[in-house]
Amino acid sequence: MTEDRNSLMRLLGRRHSCRSFAPDPVDEKTLQSLSDAFDLAPQAGGKRNLNCRFITDRIVIRDLAERGQEAFDAFCRGIQVPPIRREIEIYGENFFWFSEVPVLAVVSCRKTPTFLTEAVGQKGALIWGGELSAAMASFSLLLAAESVGLGACCMTGSLIAWREMEKVLNIPKRDTLILLIALGHKKTP
Ligand SMILES: Cc1cc2nc3c(=O)[nH]c(=O)nc-3n(C[C@H](O)[C@H](O)[C@H](O)COP(=O)(O)O)c2cc1C
Repeated sequence: MTEDRNSLMRLLGRRHSCRSFAPDPVDEKTLQSLSDAFDLAPQAGGKRNLNCRFITDRIVIRDLAERGQEAFDAFCRGIQVPPIRREIEIYGENFFWFSEVPVLAVVSCRKTPTFLTEAVGQKGALIWGGELSAAMASFSLLLAAESVGLGACCMTGSLIAWREMEKVLNIPKRDTLILLIALGHKKTP
């Protein structure tokens, strides 16, 4: 028990967001172990509503980052109030840094059913629990990544261009994109 606690605390203390990766690919077996960790997390409504898939094709990852950045730039140009536009531009400076990451995990969940939002409004999403389940499962994946020495960083900033991202990623209409997780071997200085 004490051993478990100590290793958990060490793992939690060691984990930090990593944004700088070695170019080496991550092998299939390791990705499967991360997927297993994701699936082991608790999930509202049982094990039906979450999805995590890994993109390892560098061209697809680069395309996603570039098209997201273009959509974000266009969005900024459309903001009529200069100080707000400037704030958003600064806020979004690092949303699309992930073009060269070796692996991108794409986390999505089933949309909150209309009957819930109709019945209880905004809190419907909290009752449905899709986004919170995605957060829990993603943290499980982050810890699993750290446990095998991989670097990772979860990202929601890029969802500012969510329409473009969902289109490029082929997210089914019944689902919604929650976050992306950059993954790879940590770059050693
Ligand atoms: C929900 C969530 C969204 C995040 N979105 C981004 C993001 O869009 N871009 C980014 O570079 N980091 C993102 N991060 C990483 C945070 O910046 C990072 O976790 C925080 O600075 C704490 O650092 P640490 O992870 O090293 O402990 C996000 C983290 C969380 C939990």
